[in-house]
Amino acid sequence: MKRTRESQALRPPAFGYHAAALPPRPTELYCEAVALEGLAARHATPLYVYSTAMIRARVSAFGQAFRSIPHTLCYSVKANSTLAILRLMIDEGTGFDVVSGGELQRVLRVSRKAASKVVFSGVGKTAAEMELALRSGILLFNIESASELSLLSAIATRLKKRAAVAVRVNPDVSAKTHPYISTGLHQHKFGVPISEARTLYAQAAKQPYLKVAGVSVHIGSQITDVGSFQSALERVADLVRALREQGHDIRYIDAGGGLGISYEGAQKSFDKQIAAYARAVLGPLRGLKLHLLLEPGRSIVGPAGVLLTRVLYRKTNNRKRFLIVDAAMNDLLRPSLYGAYHEIVPVSRNSRETEITDVVGPICETGDFFARDRKLPLVSEGGLLAILDVGAYGAVLGSNYNTRGRPAEVLVNGAKSKVIRRRESLQDQMRMEKV
Ligand code: LLP
Repeated sequence: MKRTRESQALRPPAFGYHAAALPPRPTELYCEAVALEGLAARHATPLYVYSTAMIRARVSAFGQAFRSIPHTLCYSVKANSTLAILRLMIDEGTGFDVVSGGELQRVLRVSRKAASKVVFSGVGKTAAEMELALRSGILLFNIESASELSLLSAIATRLKKRAAVAVRVNPDVSAKTHPYISTGLHQHKFGVPISEARTLYAQAAKQPYLKVAGVSVHIGSQITDVGSFQSALERVADLVRALREQGHDIRYIDAGGGLGISYEGAQKSFDKQIAAYARAVLGPLRGLKLHLLLEPGRSIVGPAGVLLTRVLYRKTNNRKRFLIVDAAMNDLLRPSLYGAYHEIVPVSRNSRETEITDVVGPICETGDFFARDRKLPLVSEGGLLAILDVGAYGAVLGSNYNTRGRPAEVLVNGAKSKVIRRRESLQDQMRMEKV
């Protein structure tokens, strides 16, 4: 494989077109040094493919951008919770943000030691989940209501285990993102208004088995205007100063996740983007001695994954064209649920001709689409497409709707690839049922 002049990066360092020999232009889509046609032939489609190099590069870019302050990257497990991805994060030195006992169990399954870098977020933690988290010795509970605080105190007292707590505040800042994934306005269910947070800290400080340790905030996801982070952290910084004056020992600020990625058009340099994000987060914290926690999900794994799908049929209804592919909304829900845009590219570029077409799945719902009226290179039946930027909130949002098994997942590392989750069989799907 020649990878000098004949390559064209789509999502560097993970995905790009390369030429096998010396044709006029690069035509074959690769993940690192592995041809995606080959993976689809070996493992069938639909197939999720992830790049190790991309994940490593992004974790390390976070480390660089925040090197001026003690910090821990707590990768947000909800974005992609496949065990091998969590393993990779541990190898890269990250901690984790979990929102359920199930996510915590996944982390523990990979490494019991990892618990010491786990933060537990979420508005509806159950008693059993709190007990599991306390017994495994997690770093921090992000508390979202007065009732949750009393339940945690009761459980911690019963177990005689001290729980480190932060109150997740709702800063009433707009994240300027899709309303379903915006969380930092007072009308959202998340967090505690800053004015009420102080009462919670006072209550927490009186509990023998609670240790006030931090303040946390998360205003939403897919945020591209870093000014929103800055506004939120300015309010958090004021609160930290006020709490310290009242004698609370605030060691941690958990700035949440939410940094957006470019799903469309020209890819911005991640180094530049993360530097701007770091300035927005760190500016307001200047002068406050603390340990920063960050909970990124999408910005680390989003561009590291593609979904490979084959064109089953071409179809024209009146003048409208459809590519019916073998992946569906059960495999990747984002377009159907949020109207999200994902770039779609042919795995082999052998036609210069284009067409305007919908790309749809086989499920019996009009909402089962990946693209509408999209200009795409002409792809014939049997041709392979790659849906880009599905490493975050892709496989994890999958379901068995229409009794479709979840796709297999493959992790590429250089010239090597391995199946990290096998395709779900019909037997897998029916084994919990009785006739
Ligand atoms: N921390 C907390 C408390 C969160 O709720 C979230 C995401 C994150 C961290 C990670 O945010 P990220 O860095 O990935 O933006 N399914 C939606 C996204 C839901 C995000 C939910 N919370 C989507 O596909 O766009």
